[in-house]
Amino acid sequence: MAVGVFDSGLGGLTVLDAVSKRLPDVPFVYLGDNKHAPYGVRDAEDVYTLTCAATERLWDAGCDLVILACNTASAAALRRMQESWIPRDKRVLGVFVPLIEALTERQWGDNSPPREVAVQHVALFATPATVRSRAFQRELAFRAIGVDVEAQACGGLVDAIEEGDMILAEALVRSHVDALKRKMPTPQAAILGCTHYPLMQEIFQDALGPEVAVYSQANLVAESLADYLDRHPNMKGPGADSMFLTTGDPKRVSDHATQFLRRRIQFEAA
Ligand code: DGL
Repeated sequence: MAVGVFDSGLGGLTVLDAVSKRLPDVPFVYLGDNKHAPYGVRDAEDVYTLTCAATERLWDAGCDLVILACNTASAAALRRMQESWIPRDKRVLGVFVPLIEALTERQWGDNSPPREVAVQHVALFATPATVRSRAFQRELAFRAIGVDVEAQACGGLVDAIEEGDMILAEALVRSHVDALKRKMPTPQAAILGCTHYPLMQEIFQDALGPEVAVYSQANLVAESLADYLDRHPNMKGPGADSMFLTTGDPKRVSDHATQFLRRRIQFEAA
């Protein structure tokens, strides 16, 4: 009864941590496509091809349900996968919708027309590919009216985090927040629209100021997955073991993952 969790690299571990705490009895198979990270600088075709290959690897590991714990893949590939590629007995879910439901104060499955919500000025921090896709604004427009979104593509940040260069990562966060504030001086809320960014959440909050509500996805996705599995218990696949798989160098990836999550994580070759 394993569930797959996929990211281009290590960022999805922030989601994995939250889902495994929320659902301690469910085995999770994590796959990081570290060999091809970052996805955020790739075009949509490339992200689609890589995401399909990774999803198939997780199906092979006994996961009928795969969570794309990667906004770039969710934004650039998921809709196309759902429209024409995923077989009937499998499911692939993204990480955007739970976040937007939280921002727009909606319950799961509330498909009522878009309405005014409490926040009006929202800063979105995401990879260049996610920003380019405008998927966040599209999903938001289905649910809310009158929300002004200013997006900041955080070039270089995923590379710095993947490399474990936290000094560079902090400098990049501060300069991307400055750039955002030049366009939107007083955001009410900020969305960390990349699963790598919660690793820098304190710096984002510090740079934005205490009055800005910072939304990150991990706990929202965990709640939404728990709810989904309650309603679809048959989607827990036949796999029985938790595993960490990488397309990169398992030793190097394990060391970086251990540093991030502050517990020993052992990756094996995908
Ligand atoms: N964690 C991915 C995301 O949520 C990282 C993207 C990348 O590889 O650039 O977008």
